[in-house]
Amino acid sequence: MIRFAPMTADLAKRATGRLAALAACSRPGPGVTRLPFTSEHRTALDLLTAQMKAAGLDVHIDAAGTLVGRLEGPPGAPTLLMGSHQDSVREGGAYDGIMGVVLPILALETLRDEGIQLPFAVEILAFADEEGVRFPTALIGSRALAGTVDPAVLDMTAADGVTLRDAMTGFGLEPDAIPDLARDPAGVLGFLETHIEQGPVLEAADVPLGVVTAICGIERHPVVLTGETGHAGTLPMEMRRDALVGAAALITEVDRLARATPGLIGTVGTIDVAPGAVNAVPRQVRTMIELRAPDDAVREAAGARLTAIAGNIAEARGLVLDMQRSYRQPATTCDPRLSDKLAAAVATVTGEDAPRLASGATHDAAAMADLCPVAMLFLRCKDGVSHRPEEFASAQDMALAVAVITAFLGSL
Ligand code: HGY
Ligand code: MN
Ligand code: MN
Repeated sequence: MIRFAPMTADLAKRATGRLAALAACSRPGPGVTRLPFTSEHRTALDLLTAQMKAAGLDVHIDAAGTLVGRLEGPPGAPTLLMGSHQDSVREGGAYDGIMGVVLPILALETLRDEGIQLPFAVEILAFADEEGVRFPTALIGSRALAGTVDPAVLDMTAADGVTLRDAMTGFGLEPDAIPDLARDPAGVLGFLETHIEQGPVLEAADVPLGVVTAICGIERHPVVLTGETGHAGTLPMEMRRDALVGAAALITEVDRLARATPGLIGTVGTIDVAPGAVNAVPRQVRTMIELRAPDDAVREAAGARLTAIAGNIAEARGLVLDMQRSYRQPATTCDPRLSDKLAAAVATVTGEDAPRLASGATHDAAAMADLCPVAMLFLRCKDGVSHRPEEFASAQDMALAVAVITAFLGSL
C-alpha cells in the first residue's frame, strides 16, 4: 500500500495548480498549443521564472531559449541537470514536457524546506522546442548543451516561411551563440527527465511510476510525388499520373511493413495535395514518413526498404519521386547506474519495485545522452493517451514523483 503523507497532499495541490496555470499559456482552442518562440512560450517562461526564483534558483534564458534555474553547490562541485521541454504539440495535453520542469522545482523546494544542502549544484532546464512541430527539426535546446546542433537547422522554415533563426532572434535570443552553450561533460553528473509515460504500460500494471530503459530511435523522410493534373471528368483513367493514388499506395506499404516488422512503428501524419480540388486529378502530394524502433538496424533497414518501394511505385505510375531522409535520431540507452539509483528512490518512496520500460516517444534525454549519463522517470498516463487534450497524470502520482526526485537527489 503506498503511504500518502500530508506533505504529499500539499505537493499534489501545488503541482496541479502550477500545471493548470501553465496550461493556460496556450493558443485558444482544445487542449494546449504552446509552440516555441511565441507569446504563449513567453508567458510560460514568466510563470516558470517566478516558480524557479521562489524556489531559490538563479534564473536566466540561454541563447537557444532554454530557461535555466540554477541552485549553486559547493565550490568546484559538478552539476546535476534536470528538466524537460516547455513546448507542446497542437491541441496537446497539459503534462507532456512541462510537468518535467514543474516537479523538479517542487523537489528543490522540499529539500530547502527540510534544510537539506546537496553536495553538488543542480540546474532545472525548460527546453524551448522538443516537439519539432513548428519547425522541421527538434531538440535544439538539449542539443545545444550537448554541443550537437547542426547550424543548418537555423535556416529551416516554419509553414509561414519564418526561419528558425528569425523566430529565435525575434524572441530576443542569439542563435549564433548556440555553439558556446556546449557544456563540459566533466562538470555534469547526469540528466534526469521526469515525463508522463504517454502509453498504457504503467496504468495496466496499476503502478504510479516507472524507470525508462531506452528511448526509441526515430527517422523522418519527407516525400514529394509529382504527376499530372487534369479534369476529373474527362481525363481517361489509363492516361492518368495521379500523385495521390501513388501516395496512397506508399502509405499502405508503410503500415504493412511496420505491422510485419517486430519492434518497428511507422506513421504518416501529414499530407498536402495540390491542386486540392474535388474535380481535378491530384498533381502533387507532399507527405512525411516517420519510423521508430528501439533497434537502430531495424529502423535503418526499414527506411531503405521504403525508399526502394517508393521508387518502384513512382516508376510504375509515371510519377516523379523526391524522397530524402531529413531527420535521424539514434536509439538511446539510459544510464544503468543512474537508473538503478532512480529505481531505488521509487522503492523507498512507494514500497514497490518500479517497472522498467522502453519509451516509444522521444525526449530531450535522447539528446542529453550525448553530453552525460541520463535517466528517466515515467508517470502513469490515464488511458495511455497523450498529444491530446485528455492527457492526464494524477496529483497523487505527481506528489509521489516529487518525493522520488527528492530521494534520488539525496542518494547521489
Ligand atoms: O515525437 C515524440 O515522440 C515526442 O513527443 N516529441
Ligand atoms: Mn515530451
Ligand atoms: Mn510530445
